[in-house]
Amino acid sequence: MTAFHVGPIPIENRLILAPMEDVSNLPMRTIAKRIGGPGLMFTEFVSAMAIHYNAKKTYKKLVIANEERPLGIQIFGGEVETMVETAKVCADAGCDILDINMGCWVPKVVKTGSGAALLKDPDLATEIVSRVVRAVEIPVTVKVRAGWDYSLFAAPELAKRFQDAGAQMITLHARFAKQGFEGQADWDLIKAMREVVTVPLAGNGDVRTPDDAERMLTDTGCDGVMVGRAAISNPWALRDIRLRLEGKPPMPPPTIQDRVDTALEHLKLMIEFEGDELKAVRHLRGQIPMYIKGEPGAAEVRGRLTRCDSYDEVAEVLGAFLEGTKETQETMIVSQV
Ligand SMILES: Cc1cc2nc3c(=O)[nH]c(=O)nc-3n(C[C@H](O)[C@H](O)[C@H](O)COP(=O)(O)O)c2cc1C
Repeated sequence: MTAFHVGPIPIENRLILAPMEDVSNLPMRTIAKRIGGPGLMFTEFVSAMAIHYNAKKTYKKLVIANEERPLGIQIFGGEVETMVETAKVCADAGCDILDINMGCWVPKVVKTGSGAALLKDPDLATEIVSRVVRAVEIPVTVKVRAGWDYSLFAAPELAKRFQDAGAQMITLHARFAKQGFEGQADWDLIKAMREVVTVPLAGNGDVRTPDDAERMLTDTGCDGVMVGRAAISNPWALRDIRLRLEGKPPMPPPTIQDRVDTALEHLKLMIEFEGDELKAVRHLRGQIPMYIKGEPGAAEVRGRLTRCDSYDEVAEVLGAFLEGTKETQETMIVSQV
């Protein structure tokens, strides 16, 4: 079934995995797709300058697996020529969609005129979109914030110009750049964008549950719901949201065993991807403990997990944690009899 199209690309359901630096890399996306099944996923952002200077580490971000399609690669930069060059490199790498970042607010990005800084320069932003659209044959999309600061809700005017320049989907993270992640995303801004955006519109910001996702769709009229933080180390959140959006019955929550197995699978995929066990373990230091977050005893295990240097050590700590939870459950059952 097709929920909507991005240019000619059919998107099977309305759930979209957000681009997230250091998170939505190939191993994470593989797990997200297998368990959560979002209709569309984006890579973490890729620096146009890094591609221009042939940074090996950045080229790795362009590796795509067929099972994760349709996939968008997101790029960022503040200069027309390097953005065009990078767009071509990404298209050659085989992505289905090319996304331009105009939402990143962190100083290291905006000080180069990239990301959300482009919201302050509509002519340059439009020229980048227009030139990138002409440079590649795949659909080009743009992810924006509402504007730079509260004084100007710039996104609708920009979105109109991007559409005219050939953008095939607009994503709105419903916060202003100056906000960072503070406050609540204001979904009324997505509704206001709906009035002007005729290409598909993806809404983004603070969707954590199936109820949130359903509410965003009905309240704003957007075509897709993009989910970021709720999906980190929790592909079941994606699954639950997708099932609701497809009108399907919910599935039981994952067991602790499922969480541990998936954390280890994620680590295994990361080791393959990095080709370096220590690097992979370090990369996932923050994310592995999040798989068991909220379970009794998880907080104590966290410290031990962050000190592990190998797959076997992580497996041992998680194995002991599992045993511990089983014993606790047995004690509870015995005491209930
Ligand atoms: C760790 C992290 C990394 C992020 N990296 C990117 C990025 O590379 N490109 C981008 O457009 N947005 C990035 N974002 C923003 C998300 O795509 C999304 O807009 C934001 O998290 C709001 O959605 P959420 O409330 O569902 O998390 C990042 C967010 C997080 C938490």
